[in-house]
This record gives sequence, C-alpha cells and structure tokens, in this order.
Amino acid sequence: MTFVPDQEVGPYRIVSQIGRGGMATVFKAYHAALDRYVAIKVPVASFQANPEVLARFKREVKIIAKLDHPNIIPIYDVNEFEGTPYLVMRFVEGRTLREFLTQYKKPVSLTTIMTIMRAVTSALAFAHQKQVLHRDVKPSNIMLGNDGNVYLMDFGLARIVAEADATLSKDIVLGTPYYISPEQAKGEPLDERTDLYSLGVVLYELLTGRVPFTGESPSIVVYHHIASPPPPPSLLNPNVSPAMEQVVLKALAKDRNQRFASASEMMQALVQVVQSEAETPPPQAVPITTPQTAGAKPPTEAKPIEAPKRPFKSANSILLILSLLILISEIYLQRSQIFIFQWCPSFPVQPTR
Ligand SMILES: Nc1ncnc2c1ncn2[C@@H]1O[C@H](COP(=O)(O)OP(=O)(O)OP(=O)(O)O)[C@@H](O)[C@H]1O
Ligand SMILES: [Mg+2]
Repeated sequence: MTFVPDQEVGPYRIVSQIGRGGMATVFKAYHAALDRYVAIKVPVASFQANPEVLARFKREVKIIAKLDHPNIIPIYDVNEFEGTPYLVMRFVEGRTLREFLTQYKKPVSLTTIMTIMRAVTSALAFAHQKQVLHRDVKPSNIMLGNDGNVYLMDFGLARIVAEADATLSKDIVLGTPYYISPEQAKGEPLDERTDLYSLGVVLYELLTGRVPFTGESPSIVVYHHIASPPPPPSLLNPNVSPAMEQVVLKALAKDRNQRFASASEMMQALVQVVQSEAETPPPQAVPITTPQTAGAKPPTEAKPIEAPKRPFKSANSILLILSLLILISEIYLQRSQIFIFQWCPSFPVQPTR
C-alpha cells in the first residue's frame, strides 16, 4: 500500500510524495497537532506484510531514534497504518548532496567540502560511539539544509530493510554500489571502518567530480571496490595536493586496518592538510637577481618561470652553413677526383674517368 496526497495517516496528513529510493518512498506530511511538517518514509512493499518483520523494524528503529545529534536527522515516530509500516522524521527543507552535485556541475570549494566532512564525520563518530553503523553513506543520504546545516540520514536503514527481506543477505547493497566498502561487498562482518570507506568515496567525488569506480554493471563496480586500486584523485583534478590525496587513498584502503581508525581521526587528518596548506605559501618563481638596495620595491608578482630559450635559430644557421660547405666540397671533389685518387691510390672505387 502506498500513501496519496490528502490521505490521513494516523495523525499525519500526506501533502506530497517527495522522493523514491531503492528502499523506500518518502512523503511530505503535515502533523496538525504539533503544527509542523514531517517526512514519512514507507519501506518497500516486499517487506510490509510480515508481522515478525514489522516487530524487528520497530525494534531497530528504536536504536536509531536514540541518535540525538545536530547532524543526524531525528526520528519522531515509527508506526503502521493498515499494515503498512512507516517512519516519521524531521522534514528538512533543502536538497541532498546528490542533487547538489548534479545541479552544481562545478568543482566544489574546499570550504564546502570541509563543512560537509565536518558534519558527516561528527555524526558518524557519535553513532559509532553508540555502536550504530550507518552502512549506506552516500551523497543521497546527506542533506544540505537551507538553514546551512548538513545532515546525515537513513542510519542503519539499509540493514533494516535487508533484514526484513528474507531473500536478501544482511548487508547487501540495495541501492547504488558506488560507495560500498570491500568488506561489505564480500559480505564480511562490519565495523565502523566500512562507513569511513564509503565517506572516502564521497570525499573522492567531492574533490574530483566522479566516483573512483564505475562499470557497466553493479557487479563490475563491486569487483573494483574489492580488487582495483582507485585512480589517484590528482590525475582527475591536479589541484588535489599530495597530502589531500594521501587522506583520500587512506580512507579507500582495501584493508580496513590501513584506513583511519575512527571518523574523528579522518577529520583530524583533513584539518591538518587544510591548515598546513593554508600556512605554506604557494610556490613562487625565484627571481635571479633579488634587489638588495634599501628601499627598492619588492616584486609584486612572481614572474612566471620562462622556459629556457632553445637555440633553434643558431642551430639552423650552422646546419645551413655545413650543408653549403658539403655541397661546395662535393662539387670541388668531383672536379678533382683524379687528383684525389692519384694522391690516395688504395681507395677502392676507381675514378670514372
Ligand atoms: N527527512 C527528509 N526531509 C526532506 N526530504 C527528504 C527526507 N528524507 C528523504 N528525503 C527526500 O527523499 C528522497 C528519497 O530518499 P530515499 O532515502 O528514499 O532515497 P535515496 O537515499 O535517494 O536512495 P536509497 O534508497 O538508495 O537510499 C531524497 O533524495 C530526499 O530528496
Ligand atoms: Mg536515503
């Protein structure tokens, strides 16, 4: 069952459908008693019928609902309407990072990247402390609120939905495979480093404009996550510094022991990179003669390094002179062949005349 505009669902009145992902349909609804708008998420149909599944859904949501953090979209309620389970959360006015990236189409500024990373690492650090994994960190689960705040949403939802469907393995990817960690792809037990890998992919995309692995089918993408080294981000964007590249590649290590141990550690590394780059002035061309005279005006702008002048012109002239000399001497030699062969009798070729 799906909801339709103006339908009364418990205390909520459905306003419109605002989105549909691989796992759920999202509606904007109005809660008259509290005079506020909410977002209502209705999971995919396949898992709505089973009462046991419904009970588990409610149990899992209870854990997520305890995540009270400024960068996590709060959950207000979990209920069912005529057998259809639904989840009520804060309605955030804004757009997802996915929508932003699709519309913006320009390199994202470092300030914006840091704002997003600060919010998401903070949300993850908080959840991980409470032993909750997100399992599906990706741009469509990051909301950029019109209030300037950044939110991470859909905590643990991937698992809840997968668990609810007996035909799916616990950590299977229901949506996009572009952000999946190698261990998640292999169906191994997960810890917080799976979220840090996925966040590494998001960071990679923010810096380069594309995800590290693509392919013609989800299984090819998954294979790359397990086995292929990511193309260095600086190949796609030369403005990515070696230090920043190191952070990204560390987050994307196949072996989770080589990754950052926590979300805070990852953020610290990013802050260090940005700080050290702000302190280090950009490389400048060193003038050959520095004006030493007191009062002499320092150069306001570094002169671009000139490429060394290639001696094309002089080489050409030498070549021209040499060829002329050879030509003249050949003419001369032809005229004086007899003289040469007389002078040099052992020469193998006999003169023509
Ligand atoms: N709390 C919310 N406030 C406002 N809009 C929301 C909220 N939650 C979700 N949305 C909107 O609903 C859309 C669909 O979200 P949903 O989580 O179902 O799909 P998804 O994350 O894009 O895909 P997937 O199912 O693969 O996770 C989002 O892209 C967003 O635009
Ligand atoms: Mg989502």
